[in-house]
Amino acid sequence: MVIVKTIIELKNILRKSNQSIGFVPTMGALHDGHISLIKKARLENEIVVVSIFVNPTQFLEGEDLDKYPRKDEADKKICELCDVDYLFMPDINTMYNKDEVTINAPKTKGYILEGFKRAGHFDGMLQIVLKLLNIVQPTNSYFGKKDAQQLSLITQMVNNFYIDTNIVACDIVRESDGLAYSSRNVYLSKEQREKALSISKSLKKSAKSIGEGQRDCKTIKNNIIEYLDNIDGLEIEYVEIVDKEFNKIEEIELKNTIILIAVQLGSTRLIDNIWI
Ligand code: PAJ
Repeated sequence: MVIVKTIIELKNILRKSNQSIGFVPTMGALHDGHISLIKKARLENEIVVVSIFVNPTQFLEGEDLDKYPRKDEADKKICELCDVDYLFMPDINTMYNKDEVTINAPKTKGYILEGFKRAGHFDGMLQIVLKLLNIVQPTNSYFGKKDAQQLSLITQMVNNFYIDTNIVACDIVRESDGLAYSSRNVYLSKEQREKALSISKSLKKSAKSIGEGQRDCKTIKNNIIEYLDNIDGLEIEYVEIVDKEFNKIEEIELKNTIILIAVQLGSTRLIDNIWI
């Protein structure tokens, strides 16, 4: 594996070959969720590029940019073990200049749910993903369904700007007790982690009720809210049911529905979802 720090170096390497390139952008602190994306990329491409860059423009004032977990050495080992070809680890001055042309997330999809509480988050996320896609020019780009709204916005950006890459949506990876892997899980105390399990449990219960014929989104939402309201110290930020385009829906549409939850547990914000 080659660790690459500069854009020019990475471009020179990648442009020399005309092999298929699988790209997995990350912010590091790699866990099994990231690893599943990397393994899929490894299976489906001749060259695998992973990037690790904690992107400041997608963090709002007061968010956890400074304390975002950084585990460079462990991450390098993981990438090595996953047979990654190129690990791109640029610094901030490599990725950003002063007073740049920026990109705005669409006014509705970009500013509801995750984009409501975190207004501007998706602008910064799209900005860095656009830069990275232009640098790597991957055949296939791998993103997790865990960040469903992010995935939808990136797919839209790729369509709107005619970017020549195939977006591969990857399933959510969970710990054996159901908690979705997240770099932010390390912030949870033992007690909070126990309480966090109610999120995936409520999603599972909803999926079960849908399997049994329930189609009314209001009922499903209320059941989730009732379940989570009983968990001491857990604050619901939103529970929402949308189609894959992120339009709110009233009736479950099989194969075109996402149930989304965001909660606050102490100072840690957690999101999870299930695709129906
Ligand atoms: P990060 O949070 O590091 O996530 C990198 C990729 O891993 C994203 O596509 C995310 O959806 C996926 N992922 C995270 N947890 C997962 C899980 N439990 N199961 C499956 N996939 C999972 O998302 C970002 O970084 C950034 O916003 C980025 C796209 C890199 C732009 O800065």
